[in-house]
Amino acid sequence: MHNPIASLLRADIAGFAPYTPIVPLDVLAQRLGLPLGDLIKLDANENPYGPTAATRAALAELATETGARTQTALYPDPDTTSLRTAIGTHLGQSPDRIICGNGSDEIIDVLMRATITPGAAVVDATPTFGMYAYSTHLYQGTYIEVPRTASFALDIDQMRAAITRHQAKIVILAAPNNPTGNPLTRDELLALLDLPLIVVSDEAYAEFSGISFVDLIDSHPNLVVLRTFSKWAGLAGLRVGYGVMHETLAAELRKIKPPYTVNVAADVAATAAIRDYASMKPLLEQICQDRDAFAAQLTTLGCAVYPSVANFLLVRTPVSASTVRDELMKAGILIRYFPKPRLADCIRISIGTAAQHERVLDVLETIFVQQKGQ
Ligand SMILES: Cc1ncc(COP(=O)(O)O)c(C=O)c1O
Repeated sequence: MHNPIASLLRADIAGFAPYTPIVPLDVLAQRLGLPLGDLIKLDANENPYGPTAATRAALAELATETGARTQTALYPDPDTTSLRTAIGTHLGQSPDRIICGNGSDEIIDVLMRATITPGAAVVDATPTFGMYAYSTHLYQGTYIEVPRTASFALDIDQMRAAITRHQAKIVILAAPNNPTGNPLTRDELLALLDLPLIVVSDEAYAEFSGISFVDLIDSHPNLVVLRTFSKWAGLAGLRVGYGVMHETLAAELRKIKPPYTVNVAADVAATAAIRDYASMKPLLEQICQDRDAFAAQLTTLGCAVYPSVANFLLVRTPVSASTVRDELMKAGILIRYFPKPRLADCIRISIGTAAQHERVLDVLETIFVQQKGQ
């Protein structure tokens, strides 16, 4: 039968590759026949400890009779005024330079929506975070991949050449890079900022790396810094991220961002979290220490671990990485596997608790022995 809907859709949607998201825990628990509490989720670089006590208290307040009536029953502040003020204070930046969204994913989307017309180029250093290609394709832009070097650093000469050749509108760089974990250096960024395009430093993991380029916004109105509450703050489920950029660009983006995408719970929790950053800081340091210890243990097991300044490790496994992913999954341990060039022999493991690492190491050891014996 003729389906009239297909002819109504944009022609490119039929061939559009969807983003591969993670599988929710309850769905997976059911699929594996394991109790939800037994699963170890190390596939999305979340904070295994969750938000701080003050952040949880702010959320609990929303569930009281007064909170429900005066906050959750009402539309959120479309300008996220309190949140932007709190972020501005935290970063030493004017709130006019900040735009909050439904995760930093939304800021990536808004940036692309503002700049990408069909065929316009976005240059990227791959392998990297998949949403950059996804959002580029959503606006029918051309995604230009410049391969990273053997150590996953940027190939600056090639990047500059590609940007000029394609008259790119945006170059987007994860700093540190996901899934490789290596930092973006200030010199690399500066080497691109003098070109006539928007340069994005996606600092989703900056609270772990301790490296940010927010200070360069004063001198570089084409720089956009992205940050998120999904990783350090333990608020991935509430979806809140932000961009920091020159106020002129922020004002333009604000015009095309739908007004209520940061909901009341996200707004309240993120505001509390950033005001309470000092309470979270020791835990972030702990996570970095645990990362380094975990990396050493994985190396002892025969893995090659790439140096990381983030809250995850890219690990080359001594036996097939896709098999390791499958076997870990059967044991209720979720990690990320990317069937992509240069990553197909690796897994990415988020940093969890020390107890979770012990369990992962035990299961990995068994998998390696079994697989090598086959
Ligand atoms: C580099 C990078 N940028 C952005 C995001 C998206 O973050 P959010 O949850 O704020 O949308 C992620 C999440 O994995 C990421 O790794």
